[in-house]
Amino acid sequence: MIGLPSSTTFLALMSLAMSDSAPDPAPQAERGEVLYRQYCGNCHAPDRNKYGPMHRGVFGRAAGAVPDYPYSDALAEAAIVWNAETLDRWLADPTAMIPGTRMRFRLDDADARRSIIVYLASLSDADHLVGPQAAQQGAQ
Ligand code: HEC
Repeated sequence: MIGLPSSTTFLALMSLAMSDSAPDPAPQAERGEVLYRQYCGNCHAPDRNKYGPMHRGVFGRAAGAVPDYPYSDALAEAAIVWNAETLDRWLADPTAMIPGTRMRFRLDDADARRSIIVYLASLSDADHLVGPQAAQQGAQ
């Protein structure tokens, strides 16, 4: 006999659909900080240069602007200001955006990129510039 879809399967599908339609915006910067430590922490820190340049204030700043960090010529000469859009393109594929950069790391997960960008904006007091979700957080 062919079985009917079990009610547990149905409930699992329902809860998947619901979690999709109701993302919780509040913890995005905190989640971004965890992801930042996980993905970027080997090479970056907010307040000191490591293999990569320090990040406090990076949101809203010109590329290649940390004074005593030895940037590649490619990044130092790039006429880019870091904002939500440029950071998203950068993190998705740095060498495509700025050929010759020394940052060899790509983050394919768009959702993780978004959270990390909200976190970077919060390091720059600019989280209101990232979007409505961050604006809600800033207003609290
Ligand atoms: C494997 C090491 C490595 C990892 C991992 C890495 N980066 Fe980088 N990053 C670099 C290096 C090196 C540079 C400088 C590149 C250059 O000078 O061309 C850089 C530069 C940058 C810049 C430009 C900063 C400026 O002052 O213009 C940003 C923004 C950035 N990284 C963000 C991130 C974020 C966010 C992550 C994690 C999602 C990350 N990076 C992961 C090595 C890394």
